[in-house]
Amino acid sequence: MILLVNKKHLFNENMIKDFKMVEYENSDEELIYIESETFRHYEMLRAHLKIEGIKIDISSGYRSLEKQENLFLEFMDKYGIDYAESVVAMPGTSEHHTGLAIDICLYNGDKLIDDNNELLKCEDEFNKIHSCLKYFGFILRYPKGKEDITGYPYEPWHIRYVGEDLAMKIGDLTLEEYLER
Ligand code: DAL
Ligand code: ZN
Repeated sequence: MILLVNKKHLFNENMIKDFKMVEYENSDEELIYIESETFRHYEMLRAHLKIEGIKIDISSGYRSLEKQENLFLEFMDKYGIDYAESVVAMPGTSEHHTGLAIDICLYNGDKLIDDNNELLKCEDEFNKIHSCLKYFGFILRYPKGKEDITGYPYEPWHIRYVGEDLAMKIGDLTLEEYLER
């Protein structure tokens, strides 16, 4: 079964009752939890990209309802409610609750790029990353030009694990479009 969590399909704890989450410490010494198969495939993706000269890390993985709420409030305080609503999912509607979504950040030499606006400028790196996602079982969840379908602006950093077979079938579609067919 394919898990779909979006503004219309709410998350519930049953979805992940059989999931095993693994703990990972990122380069910011932040503890991140990720569904185990998702993490295993992320590690393969990371190793492949390293050979291609692209160094990635994880800035976000599993988020509890409380963590998502805090993120929403943080964005609201910094940028106002309209912007927060447009880029951060309301608690209960984020696929980060499943542990199957990863936000990646990039290294430029030794410098970590994890700011969203800075990441949006890294087109070459993300083009390379996106072109190989499916071989590792990931899809780009919020692609450019599909904002009306996903409900979110382009997020080059947000990848979602669906498994190799499904990632191949989904191709350039969004999860919403694929499930509609
Ligand atoms: N930024 C994505 C939509 C989330 O908050 O889950
Ligand atoms: Zn994300």
